[in-house]
Amino acid sequence: MTHKIVRYLNNANLERPAEEITEFDTPELHQLVADMFETMYASHGLGLAAPQIDVHKRLTVIDTSGGEEDLEPNKVVLINPVIIHSEGKQTGEEGCLSIPGFREPVRRHKRVKVRAHNVMGEIIEVEGEDLMARAMQHEIDHLNGILFLQHLSSLKRELIKRKIRKMIQADDWD
Ligand code: CO
Repeated sequence: MTHKIVRYLNNANLERPAEEITEFDTPELHQLVADMFETMYASHGLGLAAPQIDVHKRLTVIDTSGGEEDLEPNKVVLINPVIIHSEGKQTGEEGCLSIPGFREPVRRHKRVKVRAHNVMGEIIEVEGEDLMARAMQHEIDHLNGILFLQHLSSLKRELIKRKIRKMIQADDWD
């Protein structure tokens, strides 16, 4: 089942840290993960964090193939993830399903290593570089209430906020 993706400025929980998951391998958790992949693919995203569907838990799904048929699937589920190592720098365009229509260059680490739980509650470590590293950093930010706009200059961020506020007033942002 797909869920509605909440948008920046319409849902205050997007800007608050999410809660740890403590129960694993439950039917609810398996269903939530399946729903998140379905919602992400339907929106042509590469990653989705639970707070984006108004579930305030530390869970994110990523597939850098975006579900494209001619690309190899690269599905990652991260629960309570923490970046334990990072190195290098990269700058690339980033967007967010909660801020559709806006893409900006964001500076990130080039490589990261993440420690997380999988859906069974086992500890896993996932290493990624380039796009996968970018996706993991973007999604883990979400779990800490941080959106990619926070990585832009305050000038650029305020400009985007102003545009979004206008769309909210015009009932064009939901
Ligand atoms: Co996002």
